[in-house]
Amino acid sequence: MTAPASFWLGTSWKMTKTLGEAEAYADDLRAAVEAGSVPPELRLFVLPAATSLATVRDRLDGTGVALGAQNAHPGPDGAVTGEVSMSMVRDAGASLVEIGHAERRTLLGETDDMVADKVAAAVSTGLTPLVCVGETAAERTHGETSDVLASQVRAALSRLGGSRPSELLVAYEPHWAIGSEGRPARPADVAEGLAVVRRALDEDLAGTPTSVLYGGSVHAGNAADLMTGLDVDGLFVGRAAWTAPGLLDLAHRCADALRQRRRRQPTPDLVSAIVRKDPR
Ligand code: PGA
Repeated sequence: MTAPASFWLGTSWKMTKTLGEAEAYADDLRAAVEAGSVPPELRLFVLPAATSLATVRDRLDGTGVALGAQNAHPGPDGAVTGEVSMSMVRDAGASLVEIGHAERRTLLGETDDMVADKVAAAVSTGLTPLVCVGETAAERTHGETSDVLASQVRAALSRLGGSRPSELLVAYEPHWAIGSEGRPARPADVAEGLAVVRRALDEDLAGTPTSVLYGGSVHAGNAADLMTGLDVDGLFVGRAAWTAPGLLDLAHRCADALRQRRRRQPTPDLVSAIVRKDPR
C-alpha cells in the first residue's frame, strides 16, 4: 500500500439539503477556492445526496474539489426500482463512491457481501471506492474490534479478482463515535483500530495508492488533535461540515496541524545526515 502525500478532508451531506441548499453550499465553496482561501495541501471532497450530484458538479467544476456519491447499486443499469447504478453516479459527476457506511450497515442491512460487490463494481466503473469500516459499541466491549476491522477490510476487497483500484480510500469510523448520539473518540481510543486497517490493506493491496481516513464526530475542537495524534491520511466529517464555513474552518485547522506534523517528522535527508554524523 502506498500512502499519497496530500491530506483528504471531506464530508458526506447524508440525507440533508434541498437543491437550493446544495447550490448555496457549492457556491460558497467555489468562492473560497477562487479567493485562494483553501489550503492547497488538502484534497477536499463532498458527497451530496444523489439528487444534487449533477448540479454540485456544475457549480464546483474546475475548483479541484472532488465529488462523490454516498452509495450506488453494484449491478448494471436495469430493472432495480429505486436504485442508482455506479455508471449513473459517475455520469452525474462522482469520481468517488462511499460504500459500507455505518448507517447503511445498521439501518439498511448493508452486509460485507454487498460491500464487496459494490467495491468491485465501483472499480470496474472507474470510480474510487471510499470504503467505511468500523466496529459497533458491543463489538468493542467484547474485545472484537481488531477482528471485525480486519475482516471488513478483507471482505471489501474480496471480489476484485485481478483488478486493482487506481486509488482507494478507507475510512475507519467506529459506529459508537458517529452522529449526534456518538461519543467523540480521542486519538488513543482509535489508534490501534487505524493500525489494524492499515495492516489489513498492506496484506492485500501492496502498490495501490491507498489513504486511510478517520471519521466519527470530527469537529473544530478535535480535528487538530486527531490529525496530530493519529497516523491518518485524512478526516471524513458529517455534521461539522454540513455548512461551507464549517468545512473551510476544518480545512484551515487541518492545514495548520499538517504543518505541525511535518515539522515533527524528520525528512529523509535529515535522517540520513543524522545517521552519517552518528553511525554507531
Ligand atoms: P459525524 O458523521 O461527523 O456527524 O459523526 C461522520 C460520518 O458518518 O462519516
